[in-house]
Amino acid sequence: MHQLGFAWPSGATALDHCSFTVPGPGLWMIVGGNGSGKSTLLRLIAGLLTPSRGRLRLELKPALVFQNPDHQLLLPSCGTDLLLALPPRTMTRHGRDQQLRAALEQVGLAGLEQRPIHALSGGQKQRLAIAGALASEAGLLLLDEPTALLDPDSQDDVLELIAGLCHRPDAPLTALWITHRLDELERCDAAALMERGHLGPWQDGPTLRRRLNPLPVGHAEG
Ligand SMILES: Nc1ncnc2c1ncn2[C@@H]1O[C@H](COP(=O)(O)OP(=O)(O)OP(=O)(O)O)[C@@H](O)[C@H]1O
Ligand SMILES: [Mg+2]
Repeated sequence: MHQLGFAWPSGATALDHCSFTVPGPGLWMIVGGNGSGKSTLLRLIAGLLTPSRGRLRLELKPALVFQNPDHQLLLPSCGTDLLLALPPRTMTRHGRDQQLRAALEQVGLAGLEQRPIHALSGGQKQRLAIAGALASEAGLLLLDEPTALLDPDSQDDVLELIAGLCHRPDAPLTALWITHRLDELERCDAAALMERGHLGPWQDGPTLRRRLNPLPVGHAEG
């Protein structure tokens, strides 16, 4: 991404001279205040918006995972929803079934092909949305506050799932993860701070966490 800029039709600038490179496979987190441009950046990378200026070079197929899985799960059962995500090429029924099974297995939902979506928990729905990204054969997962609506246990599950996929020995994925939960920075490979449409350099997650949330005066750590 080089000198990326984006302005809304109103003229309001959302991204300004935003340059960065994702170092490689791994879990990369982005934090920043409300309205700083994080979601806009992911939408540009996903191709939902077109940059007003600058260059965007993508070597991996991107897939977006939203904060609210209800906004992206469309069909009534897990299996049919995943069918939509499969890449548009001719495949035998057997091949499709295998790909669906593999995607569900990777997110810990093995055997739930027939399960109606409304009978899934919030965490399971989010994992199904991630299975959709896997079934689409995306190499770059774009996650916009994927744990914001989940209970603490499901938050951990989703974070561990993504961290595992990004560090698996065989074909590790690349994930860009937006968060407001500073404790999640402990699990990333590096994190960057978005400020007024400008993304800062990658830095150590725990260090950035301490910078953003210093302990109150008079309290020593550990
Ligand atoms: N559809 C839109 N039309 C016009 N302006 C928008 C639109 N979506 C976002 N904006 C503006 O673009 C700027 C960046 O918004 P963005 O949603 O990228 O911020 P964010 O960092 O994701 O914030 P949050 O942490 O609240 O999700 C803000 O000023 C916002 O008001
Ligand atoms: Mg946002």
